[in-house]
Amino acid sequence: MGPGYLNLTNRRSPEWIMNMILNVDVMLDEDPIARKMLEECLVRMPNQNISEEEARDLLEFFRHIDEEHAGVRDQGVL
Ligand code: HEM
Repeated sequence: MGPGYLNLTNRRSPEWIMNMILNVDVMLDEDPIARKMLEECLVRMPNQNISEEEARDLLEFFRHIDEEHAGVRDQGVL
């Protein structure tokens, strides 16, 4: 449904990713990058009531797959 996750941590900062998972409605309304993705995808990512701890686990998972598949992680600055 949404953009692929490969290289996510090389495209975006950890703060941005955490915000997208935890505060998706605010991000889709106010963050320029998220707004642009919404314009392209035409689907609002749903708020899934994920806890902060779960969001941290997801971030670690994204880091892990970037390291495994791209050989590099945490390059995202925006
Ligand atoms: C735990 C589950 C999920 C996580 C961790 C997650 C995470 C993310 C992240 C980090 C982005 C930004 C991607 C980027 O910058 O390239 C994103 C975007 C997006 N996600 Fe999810 N997502 C989840 C579930 C879903 C579900 C269930 C949908 C189904 C509709 C969805 C639809 C989208 C869409 C359409 C976007 C692009 C922005 C928009 O148009 O709203 N996501 N997601």
